[in-house]
Amino acid sequence: MNRNELCWCGSGKKYKRCHMDFDAKISTMRFSFLKGQSKPPHEIINNDRDVAGIKKSGVVNDGVLDLMAELIKPGVTTEQLDNAAADYMKKHNAVSATLNYGGFPKSICTSVNDVVCHGIPSPDVVLKEGDIINVDSTTIVDGYYADASRMYIVGGVTTPNAKRLVEVTKECMEIGIAAIKPWGWLGDIGAAVGAHAGKNGYSVVTDLGGHGVGKKFHLEPFVQHTGRKETGMLLVPGMVLTVEPMINEGKKELYIDEVDNWTARTKDGKLSAQWEKTVLITEKGTEILSS
Ligand code: MF3
Ligand code: CO
Ligand code: CO
Repeated sequence: MNRNELCWCGSGKKYKRCHMDFDAKISTMRFSFLKGQSKPPHEIINNDRDVAGIKKSGVVNDGVLDLMAELIKPGVTTEQLDNAAADYMKKHNAVSATLNYGGFPKSICTSVNDVVCHGIPSPDVVLKEGDIINVDSTTIVDGYYADASRMYIVGGVTTPNAKRLVEVTKECMEIGIAAIKPWGWLGDIGAAVGAHAGKNGYSVVTDLGGHGVGKKFHLEPFVQHTGRKETGMLLVPGMVLTVEPMINEGKKELYIDEVDNWTARTKDGKLSAQWEKTVLITEKGTEILSS
């Protein structure tokens, strides 16, 4: 690209004033084949306008998750949570990314106890005291996606085991995000998460993971929550990805419900927890765009 042409990122600035130094830096780097190191494609680099768009979507998305904290109580059904989330999104000019996504029938995912993820809100799932539930919400505002999930303890109290799983899983997400450095590597995230989960006697789900997010729901790279430092894709400013570890009390294996084709449950029937944030990589570190 010529230095006086408009930059490929769509900022409207000349290349020389935008991503020219960025591209030059990447072109001088050596990528280790053995470590599976790769260059980030241009399609997943967001300009300032894109970041502002995702952030705006994130404000609504965080509002959905705040609302869930008020509603989750013994006796409430996950269908009621879905209805409230759908209303909230509508009121805030947002569309659910999950609704009709690959045939998913609801506006949020609600995953209770041994459900790892992709639980479908239902009038038949009645929350009871001590249940742990993950609500995963993704909003689209003006074409920009923001994706986050939190754990909630129904009635505020649960068993010590469940409480510890919820807390350690949150730490896993935080430690994973803290491992993200501009010009660092994707594998740094999984290495940090995996070590923390292992230290606590838990297993990390590997069948599913985080992802790039922004102008689409699921973009490169696939974010594994186990792995080795300095492996995988180079992390650069302008990338937006999710860190969303699914941590199991028992074994990591899961199975997909044969009837609904979505609900992922632990094979051993033990508890699973998950937390998720949408994270922007900046020149200096990271910024949370939805949580
Ligand atoms: N929000 C989930 C994620 O974190 C994806 C849910 S897809 C659905 O990537 F279809 F199950 F909603
Ligand atoms: Co999500
Ligand atoms: Co996600």
